[in-house]
Amino acid sequence: MKAMEILHTPVLVNEVLEKLNLKKGDTVVDCTVGEGGHSVEILKVIGPSGFLYGIDQDSEALKIAHKRLKNVGDNFFLVNDNFLNIKAIQKKYNIPAVNGILADLGISSLQLYYNRRGFSFIKNGPLDMRMSFHTELTAADVVNSFPENELADIIFKFGEEKLSRHIAKAIVDYRRRKKKIETTEELANIVANVYHRKRGKIHPATRTFQALRIFVNNEMGSLEMFLKDAPDILEQDARIAVISYHSLEDRVVKKAFREDKRLNRINKKVIRPLEEELLSNRRSRSAKLRVAERI
Ligand SMILES: C[S@@+](CC[C@H](N)C(=O)[O-])C[C@H]1O[C@@H](n2cnc3c(N)ncnc32)[C@H](O)[C@@H]1O
Repeated sequence: MKAMEILHTPVLVNEVLEKLNLKKGDTVVDCTVGEGGHSVEILKVIGPSGFLYGIDQDSEALKIAHKRLKNVGDNFFLVNDNFLNIKAIQKKYNIPAVNGILADLGISSLQLYYNRRGFSFIKNGPLDMRMSFHTELTAADVVNSFPENELADIIFKFGEEKLSRHIAKAIVDYRRRKKKIETTEELANIVANVYHRKRGKIHPATRTFQALRIFVNNEMGSLEMFLKDAPDILEQDARIAVISYHSLEDRVVKKAFREDKRLNRINKKVIRPLEEELLSNRRSRSAKLRVAERI
């Protein structure tokens, strides 16, 4: 299957468009353009007189987004960078104060789809998990070189995994016996063996893979930095929307919006997908949208 055929289905599109309150001629930054699902819809709303800046740290995703956006208009510019650099990006490309910012966090279906990206515990591939090809540390580096207590801390902190200590011990035992853990399948099996028959609703490796992915990509650090800087590039009354997919992210977004003196929260209660979307798009099940407005 070609990449264009496995497009990511964007989540909470109507809710994002409605809450961002965009109009023709607006300038918007989509900080996680991915395969362009949200960006395409934003470009339609702001029309030819508007302008869209799209950021993503994954250059592969940007190539797909570029092709899709071209079908709607040419009033866009894509930047291959980490959104934590939002202020430097604004300066570098002379971006004016903007009328809307979107961040749709986490990984895309495309990243999960390719075995070679090493994000999936269901498909076998090299244990990589880097969203950006500029990142040096891979998940294999972490599981093969970090001491047991650090591995346990990462799996507990970023995966909220109760069996983190047992899993870290199993990883280190495996390393001693087999030298190196190289594939997603090897790691998934090590974790599954720790769980034995205590399987729950989700795959036993879900939390461990989430933890390693967050650590490898410094996802929490990038998010905190982004939330600190993003309000500075908003026009007065302009809005920022963030979609998160797990409680660690949502907690950080909730706290940042609540405590930021530059922002007013548009929704104090988190916005969740409607039943219809929950049924048609599995990925939407954990999605939470928070929106705030620049004072
Ligand atoms: C959920 S997907 C976005 C999907 C997109 N909204 C769409 O509809 O096609 C998340 C994207 O954010 C990117 N991403 C995650 N963290 C990032 C960061 N700190 N800086 C830049 N891009 C990031 C990932 O590479 C991925 O392509």
